[in-house]
Amino acid sequence: MQALDEPVGGLSRKLVVLGTGGTIAGLAPRGGDGIGYEAAQIGVAQLLAGQAAPAGLELLVEQVAQIDSKDMDAAVWRALAQRCADWLGRADVQGVVVTHGTDTLEETAYFLQAVLAPHKPLVLTCAMRPANAAMPDGPQNLRDALAVAASADVGGVVAVCAGTVHAAAEVRKLHSYRLDAFGSGDAGPLAYVEAGLLRQLRGWPRSASEGRLPDLLARLPVEPQAWPRVEIVVSHAGAGGAMVDALVRDGVHGLVVAATGNGSVHHALEQALLRAQAAGVAVRRASRCDQGRVWGAPGDALPDAGALSPVKARIQLQLDLLAG
Ligand code: SIN
Repeated sequence: MQALDEPVGGLSRKLVVLGTGGTIAGLAPRGGDGIGYEAAQIGVAQLLAGQAAPAGLELLVEQVAQIDSKDMDAAVWRALAQRCADWLGRADVQGVVVTHGTDTLEETAYFLQAVLAPHKPLVLTCAMRPANAAMPDGPQNLRDALAVAASADVGGVVAVCAGTVHAAAEVRKLHSYRLDAFGSGDAGPLAYVEAGLLRQLRGWPRSASEGRLPDLLARLPVEPQAWPRVEIVVSHAGAGGAMVDALVRDGVHGLVVAATGNGSVHHALEQALLRAQAAGVAVRRASRCDQGRVWGAPGDALPDAGALSPVKARIQLQLDLLAG
């Protein structure tokens, strides 16, 4: 295994592992503690120390960030997307694995797929237990992620956790504690990893070429404050419009409403969202249900976000606003 501060050379095919932190890199003060631990404590090179490279591939590692993913932000996303693009653009790189916290993994996965739409595999993985837990899940997840990234059949951004491969568009964290914390809603997973082998259930989210990255990536502002500000509000029993009115006064650019059921919104909140839209704020309705999608009707006053969850609709609206 080679760390990135060493010269990169040779003709061998490479898998690149980019570290961003998370519980997979976490440490518990008392070994074995699965709750009172600190995420993002050990480096990605150390995470790879006990892992064998898949046959015929050399492992390279690079630490892009070292954070608890609840603190994920535009600056880390931009840096991560750039490093993924750089590595995936190299002819000798077979694929990239990103180690990430579970809490916002689905958002990073969606962002990377939207911005990079890679032809090669870009595989996010994680853990629910810290690295020094009595039985950590990170090493097996990382091993499975390397197996997925090593497969020439795989393409696009996917997430690997607990032996299951999910597409960036559908993956969601569904459980706060269980090792098998992710699901893909009613779309179902893409594949399972079984003893290092892939059992594929449906097609990979692979694009025809490494196509879209130069323009979308180049448009991402360097300064996080220069990204469009998009906030999420929730429709619920007793909801009102005061928060939306305050956000509009504060200069918000876009609003996603986590709406009930098939995109319905409490009438008081809906009136405020219509006022916001009339004032030039972009509004999208996403469903707060874990499964299904919003089916819009002709003439809907507030556009819907289709099958996107509220957090993914927020990212898509930011990218739409950046694209003008
Ligand atoms: C994080 O998201 O960075 C912490 C929680 C986790 O990885 O499970």
